[in-house]
Amino acid sequence: MAPSPTIDTEAVAVRRATRPDLLSIHRLETRVFDEPWSYSVFEEFLGEPAFLVADLDGRLLGYVVADRTPNNGRDFGHIKDLAVDPEAQRNGIGRLLLRRAVSRLLVEGVVRIKLEVREHNTVARHLYVQEGFEPRNRIPRYYHDGEAALVLVYESRQ
Ligand SMILES: CC(C)(COP(=O)(O)OP(=O)(O)OC[C@H]1O[C@@H](n2cnc3c(N)ncnc32)[C@H](O)[C@@H]1OP(=O)(O)O)[C@@H](O)C(=O)NCCC(=O)NCCS
Repeated sequence: MAPSPTIDTEAVAVRRATRPDLLSIHRLETRVFDEPWSYSVFEEFLGEPAFLVADLDGRLLGYVVADRTPNNGRDFGHIKDLAVDPEAQRNGIGRLLLRRAVSRLLVEGVVRIKLEVREHNTVARHLYVQEGFEPRNRIPRYYHDGEAALVLVYESRQ
């Protein structure tokens, strides 16, 4: 793939996703994933504090979806989806979205955050490990096409 044009990441705003973002989010989802979520799944996450978008002057460049499960005051977070527009990748936007989602979850009182990633998705795996997620276990045939998932976990140090 040709290198992405450089984007001024400083000018990228990360903010909560809103209903008018959903069409662009879903369009991007279908571009980057072989097994994309349906529109209605994104709708269900509206209002989650860590459902965030990266916005450059009204253009949606990426999104992250994360939520929180209560657990007797030691809540768990779950990063469920992360994507950046292929034309905007390699500009630090994926890292920015991931960091903001993690911070948001920690502010909400989460002590541990997990995610699943395709075993062969070395780009995403590299990013997650750089950001402090540690591989915990492997789930064979987790995806419909038979690929295994790796479960990665981030522990709050507070
Ligand atoms: C994974 C993804 C979100 C990364 O977004 P991005 O904006 O391109 O990532 P960044 O520019 O913030 O890069 C962060 C790190 O990711 C890794 N990375 C990103 N692109 C890479 C590439 N082409 N090759 C190798 N590593 C890469 C590197 O570790 C990079 O850090 P570095 O620049 O210091 O080497 C993006 O590639 C994407 O949308 N992929 C398709 C959807 C997907 O796989 N989502 C994750 C599902 S679990």
